[in-house]
Amino acid sequence: MAGAALDAVSATPIDHEMADEGATVFRDVCSACHYIGGDDPDAGLGPNLQGVTLRREPAWIRTMIANPDSMIASDSIAARLYDEYGVWMVNGGVTAAEVRALLEFLWRADRGPDVNPG
Ligand code: HEC
Repeated sequence: MAGAALDAVSATPIDHEMADEGATVFRDVCSACHYIGGDDPDAGLGPNLQGVTLRREPAWIRTMIANPDSMIASDSIAARLYDEYGVWMVNGGVTAAEVRALLEFLWRADRGPDVNPG
């Protein structure tokens, strides 16, 4: 039963309209510091975001995008990333809807068009 429920969730398709909106926000606000994929995994001021939805929980990602200051101050993973990169992720001032769209965009980048795990 639990397995079936899980399969149903993992089969939910990506909302492409939302993911496209996320792509626009990413280009306008995030791409100054972040790459997704590319030839050089170390390019960019911040971490390459390819695979980020496979290594972090959705809620963690949303909070990091919406409120990086409090995350760097209080979350051990965010603090470790700050130590590693030596750059403070700025608060891009994105709305809740934009954060949600960015998550859809990141899911699509990592998991393809058929898997919205949220
Ligand atoms: C000024 C540069 C900068 C901008 C702009 C920026 N970030 Fe970041 N981001 C960073 C840095 C640097 C880190 C690593 C933590 C730290 O040092 O603050 C990070 C960490 C992250 C992480 C966690 C990565 C991981 O490996 O766990 C996510 C997710 C993220 N950023 C998403 C975004 C999104 C989405 C945007 C656009 C709304 C954005 N960032 C804008 C610099 C930036």
